[in-house]
Amino acid sequence: MPADRAGLNFRQDYFDDPAGWAAIKSLLYEIFSVDLDPLDTVGGYDRTSFPSAFFDETGCCIANLSGFAMPLIVNGRPVKAAGWQSGAVRPDFRGQGLFGDLIRHTLWRGEEQGFEAVVLYTDKPGLYAPHGFRTVPQFSFRGDAPKPMGGQKPARHLTIETDLGLLQALLANRLAVSQRLAVAQQAEMFLLNCHLLDDVSLSLMPDDKTVIAWRMTDGGLFELLDVVGEQMPSLTEILGALQLTPASIETFIPPDRLAFDAEPVRDDGPLVLMMRCADDRLPTEPCCLSPMAEF
Ligand SMILES: CC(C)(COP(=O)(O)OP(=O)(O)OC[C@H]1O[C@@H](n2cnc3c(N)ncnc32)[C@H](O)[C@@H]1OP(=O)(O)O)[C@@H](O)C(=O)NCCC(=O)NCCS
Repeated sequence: MPADRAGLNFRQDYFDDPAGWAAIKSLLYEIFSVDLDPLDTVGGYDRTSFPSAFFDETGCCIANLSGFAMPLIVNGRPVKAAGWQSGAVRPDFRGQGLFGDLIRHTLWRGEEQGFEAVVLYTDKPGLYAPHGFRTVPQFSFRGDAPKPMGGQKPARHLTIETDLGLLQALLANRLAVSQRLAVAQQAEMFLLNCHLLDDVSLSLMPDDKTVIAWRMTDGGLFELLDVVGEQMPSLTEILGALQLTPASIETFIPPDRLAFDAEPVRDDGPLVLMMRCADDRLPTEPCCLSPMAEF
């Protein structure tokens, strides 16, 4: 366990303490402008979380790094992975090795729990590469839209406020959207991202068992962000139920379960996905994690 520093106390697993939860929310709001308040309305933090942090004597959270369980499917097989998020140090305390301490300790905690892999998003890959993390290139997938299936009942628009129970039930029993790389189970980030991402629509397919997360761009491109359910509908069924006839489609999930003839388009944005795992746990085909799973 990291030693306390002058004026700072090391703490872990403190989210159940209301003052601790308020302190991490304030750190993340100040450093990333991310508001965690919506999480409180959808059941609170992920109970698998294992945060480690330094606090000052007034109870202010100075530095934090949180791990949580993020079971994945990679190359068709389950991988017991942990996600890392909320890594931050207040500006006045940077450059003193606090974050390095938190990385080493969180790695050790993950190994103790038997995680085979760690995944994270970062715009600073150099921070994690010395600890064995490797960048996993991310792609979206573009192609011509198929003809929508005719004669379908229309999908129903859902909101997170009115349909929370249904969404949670479907998230708990979902099929992984891809064999290449997908979240096997993780509900909290999906629900939080409904609040954080712009213009996401949630639609319930006529079978009442599948939710489509999607949006249309101003240019008329249909963007498929995620599919939550026990089965994977085809794109023709999805477009038919949404009553849309776009010319083209971009999916932000790998298309192997969609029977979609698509071109992979590499994401060259500043945010990269990194994994720390054995070579045979790394995805081997063009892939991405759904933006609804981003953390
Ligand atoms: C990035 C951040 C967490 C580093 O915290 P810190 O306490 O200053 O880091 P440390 O002093 O423990 O440095 C740890 C190591 O990372 C390196 N490092 C620090 N900032 C880095 C950066 N931006 N890019 C690459 N490496 C960096 C340090 O040189 C040090 O390397 P060393 O162990 O070889 O000496 C902090 O600057 C911060 O909160 N930034 C804003 C939020 C952010 O970007 N968080 C990370 C999101 S994934």
